[in-house]
Amino acid sequence: MEIIPATLRDLVALRRIEQACFPKDAWPLIDLVAVLSFPDVIRLKAIEDGQMVGFIAGDLRRTEGLGWIATVGILPGYRRRGFGRLLLLECERRMNTSRFRLCVRKENVEAIRLYETEGYVVTDTWNKYYSDGGDALVMEKYNHTADFV
Ligand SMILES: CC(C)(COP(=O)(O)OP(=O)(O)OC[C@H]1O[C@@H](n2cnc3c(N)ncnc32)[C@H](O)[C@@H]1OP(=O)(O)O)[C@@H](O)C(=O)NCCC(=O)NCCS
Repeated sequence: MEIIPATLRDLVALRRIEQACFPKDAWPLIDLVAVLSFPDVIRLKAIEDGQMVGFIAGDLRRTEGLGWIATVGILPGYRRRGFGRLLLLECERRMNTSRFRLCVRKENVEAIRLYETEGYVVTDTWNKYYSDGGDALVMEKYNHTADFV
């Protein structure tokens, strides 16, 4: 298992992961290009069996002291093996900011459990946030180990 930065060369593999992970909300191609190329985005991939099996992106909003976890997904056949947690922790480490935030579907118990065990707490609910009318929980974590100034 390896966690390394992702690049535009990972576009096809990332599309496959997005579609497998988010059947209802997969990002359009243009958003995938953006997340693989915009500045101030930490983008990491998990490699196993010689292929990309997971991805995370963290949007660093320096002026707000905030790192926004924009997406995280692991291919179904590779879940529950620690990849999701490793990607999350490495993304947080590289963002090195005072607060992290994300939103998650209210019924996504797997992801919510992961975030809770890593110190995130629910701070808000956004009703009908998703295009199918699903509600989102906003979760946040304060980073007590950051070495920012
Ligand atoms: C959420 C997701 C990224 C977790 O990835 P993963 O690699 O399976 O997670 P890990 O193996 O690192 O598990 C970390 C913790 O998450 C929780 N968790 C993960 N899957 C779980 C499940 N099926 N049931 C309950 N808890 C679960 C557990 O607390 C687990 O810790 P443990 O194994 O020590 O009990 C993965 O399920 C996924 O890609 N889901 C689809 C995409 C998605 O919903 N992304 C989040 C959008 S906000």
